[in-house]
Amino acid sequence: MSRDAPALVAQNLHRSFGSGDEAVHVLCDVSLELDEGQVLLIMGPSGSGKSTLLAVLSGLLRPDQGQVRILGEDLWRMRETDRERFRLRHFGFVFQGFNLFPSLTAGEQLEMVVRWGEGASRRDARRRVGEILERLGLSRRAHLRADRLSGGEKQRVAVGRALLKSPRFCFADEPTGSLDWVHGEQVIELLQSAARERGAALFVVGHDPRLVPYADRVLHLADGRLTDEIPPPATQTPTPGEVPS
Ligand SMILES: Nc1ncnc2c1ncn2[C@@H]1O[C@H](COP(=O)(O)OP(=O)(O)O)[C@@H](O)[C@H]1O
Ligand SMILES: [Mg+2]
Repeated sequence: MSRDAPALVAQNLHRSFGSGDEAVHVLCDVSLELDEGQVLLIMGPSGSGKSTLLAVLSGLLRPDQGQVRILGEDLWRMRETDRERFRLRHFGFVFQGFNLFPSLTAGEQLEMVVRWGEGASRRDARRRVGEILERLGLSRRAHLRADRLSGGEKQRVAVGRALLKSPRFCFADEPTGSLDWVHGEQVIELLQSAARERGAALFVVGHDPRLVPYADRVLHLADGRLTDEIPPPATQTPTPGEVPS
């Protein structure tokens, strides 16, 4: 593959749910590209298909039509076991609901990725986990079980888990959605700087406009279509007596 080719190219993606009159067309002819080291933010209201798009791009949900070329390979033409292996090797995920194991400590959640996922030695796993915990500002919380951590701490563990294996692509579904902005900002800063430093491509979906400054590109999803036009703000009826700005 040429070095200049985008790391990910999605073309003419379609995906619907249900059939016949009941069918909901969630993605209609969606195309996009992303280079390594870039941050793409996909915005759209709740129910607009952001999670569906992320799942199709990351090999979790097969599109009805269209192609995802990633590092020169056609993701949806791979055999399932190859796609699974490709995902494990190259993709990191951060979900809104954290998806941590409540009874494992912060350190154990991360060690698991390296020991089970990569077969690393305990010593190697400890060292790498130690480094990332420090980076996340969690060194002193490593011994606590996930259910003792605050929302912001849990999400930082989830970010660490996604970044530990230095993935080429990171998919983050509303990573700041359940956090107050102080913690939300820490999370998006971490994701962005990790993408820059490691040359990973980062896909973030969300609807918080405060994420915009962290993105290299912003696309909007509405009615199944992706555009780079900013939709007009929702019309607001001014309250009587109030001067509209
Ligand atoms: N597995 C599914 N089965 C049926 N409908 C689904 C499924 N997943 C998503 N949808 C529908 O697709 C639309 C988009 O959902 P989603 O991608 O979760 O949107 P968003 O992440 O932007 O909130 C919604 O109308 C949702 O109900
Ligand atoms: Mg969603």
